[in-house]
Amino acid sequence: MSNVHLLPNDRIHAYLLANEPPEHHELRKLRELTRTRPDAQMQIAPEQGCFLALLVRLIGARSILEIGTFTGYSALAMALALPADGRLVTCDVNEDAVFVGRSHWARAGVAGKIESIIAPALTTLAELERAARPRVDLVFIDADKPAYDQYYECALRLVRPGGLIVLDNMLRRGEVVDFTNDDPRTVAIRALNAKIANDERVVERDGAERAGARGAACRIHAGPRPGARGIRHAWSCHGEGLGRAVPGIPARVGPRTGNGVRVRRARTGAARVR
Ligand SMILES: C[S@@+](CC[C@H](N)C(=O)[O-])C[C@H]1O[C@@H](n2cnc3c(N)ncnc32)[C@H](O)[C@@H]1O
Repeated sequence: MSNVHLLPNDRIHAYLLANEPPEHHELRKLRELTRTRPDAQMQIAPEQGCFLALLVRLIGARSILEIGTFTGYSALAMALALPADGRLVTCDVNEDAVFVGRSHWARAGVAGKIESIIAPALTTLAELERAARPRVDLVFIDADKPAYDQYYECALRLVRPGGLIVLDNMLRRGEVVDFTNDDPRTVAIRALNAKIANDERVVERDGAERAGARGAACRIHAGPRPGARGIRHAWSCHGEGLGRAVPGIPARVGPRTGNGVRVRRARTGAARVR
């Protein structure tokens, strides 16, 4: 997790933030409070919260599963975008961090939408599978990187057809394209990116519509940025795009993709399930 940005420079980042919708006051307070912690870099960036909220609204999500709560910023961002009867289950092992977020969820009026489970995520996910709850619309994966592949497989079983799996840190601040980097977290993410790219459960390989396919896939295209340690990154959508699913949602920021869909730039990867 990181709230450090891979954008070309600070002015462009400031411009991007200036053109985001205003951050909800409880999100701002929670972000400012979290910034005082030594582990603050684990929190998603505000524009990522905005992107997640956009995804929630685009797919009309009513049910969300989050893996990695921390102080609850992403949970709050998504819960605010859910309808009044929407539900978000969020998992973490760190009770102290989650405690920080609870009062902000309450003050924002969304505590009733959020179920926080404190346990190793794989245990929680196994229990959710056993409980045979209705399948969720969106899964957000943002916890320990070496277990991402297991979270992804669980997510595939728990998400509904046409739902969305969103994975954070899929570029690892650019480490994925430094093949001398053998950090187990980076190695795990690199392997998962390659796996998702060829995973017929989520990817329209050639971008063509397929008979019976109900969803679409988004994935990251990344390449080295000349003269910098960071990387340039963008999104593309294939197949039935996210934007087409929900008419009337304004797509105000982001590159236009191959099929005419606009998606916000983000470091977060997303895969739509068929
Ligand atoms: C990057 S942070 C999540 C940030 C959060 N999404 C936000 O926006 O603030 C990752 C979280 O995953 C949690 N975590 C790490 N390993 C875990 C595990 N095995 N099961 C559940 N949570 C875990 C950590 O305690 C940490 O709070």
